Amino acid sequence: MTVAILGGTGIYNLPGIEVDAKQVSNQYGTAQVYLGKGAHSDVVFLTRHGIKHTTPPHKVNYRANIKALKDLGVTRIMATYAVGAITTGYPVMELGVLRDFLDFTSGREFSFFDEIERGVGHVEMSAPFCAVMSAKILELGTKHNIKCHDGATYVATNGPRFESPAEIKMYQMLGGDVVGMTACPEIYLAGELGMSFAAVALPINLAAGLEEKITIVEDNIEDVRGNMINLMLDVLKSTSDDECHIPKLL
Ligand code: HPA
Repeated sequence: MTVAILGGTGIYNLPGIEVDAKQVSNQYGTAQVYLGKGAHSDVVFLTRHGIKHTTPPHKVNYRANIKALKDLGVTRIMATYAVGAITTGYPVMELGVLRDFLDFTSGREFSFFDEIERGVGHVEMSAPFCAVMSAKILELGTKHNIKCHDGATYVATNGPRFESPAEIKMYQMLGGDVVGMTACPEIYLAGELGMSFAAVALPINLAAGLEEKITIVEDNIEDVRGNMINLMLDVLKSTSDDECHIPKLL
C-alpha cells in the first residue's frame, strides 16, 4: 500500500515526518514529491503549489503530478483545498468533507484520454470522493481536534482571479458550498488512473459578496494545518485499498 497526501495552500510539509525529496518525470512533465521515511515510508507527499507557493492554480501540471503518484504505486489520495465559503454550513477554519463538485475550469489539460492510441475512456463521477475515507474523516475529526462538516460540493473556478458577487450567487443557486481553483481536473485525473480519492476543504474566507471585501482569516491556521495533516494520515492508515472506492472507466 502506498498512499498520498496532496496538499494545497498552506500545506507545504508534513510536520514531524522525515522525507526524501524526489523529482518524478513522465510524458507530461516533472513532479516534485516527498517520500516519507521510517514508519511513514508508505506515504508520498505532494504540495501542488510548490513548497514556496510559486505555482498558481491554472499553471499546476495536474497530469504530471497525478501520473507521478500513480507511477510511485499510490493507490489512495487524500487531498486538501483552501477555499472560500459560499454557504453558512462550512465555517472558516473548519473542514468541509467533499462529496461532489461543479467544474468551471477551462483551458487546462484535463484528461489522460487525449491520444487516439489510448482509446476512449469515460471515468464515472457518480461518487467522485471515496465514501469510506470520507466517513473516516468525519469519524476521526474530533480525535484530531478539528470540526468536520459533511456533504460539501466544491465549485472549481479557473482563477487566478477571485469571483464576482454575482458569480457566487450563481454558484449558491447551483448548489455549491465552497469555491476554490484546484480540485479540477485533479479529482478526475486520479479517477482516470484508477486511484481512490477523498478530500477536505478548509474555508479561509467568506466568498465574494458575502462580506464587503474578501478577508483571508489566518487565526489558528498553524494549529488547523497540523491537525489536518494528522487527520489525513490517520484516515489513510486506518482504511485499506480493499474497501476504498475506485471510479470505473465506462
Ligand atoms: N475563491 C476561490 N478560491 C479560493 C477562495 C475564494 O474565495 N478562497 C480560497 N481559495
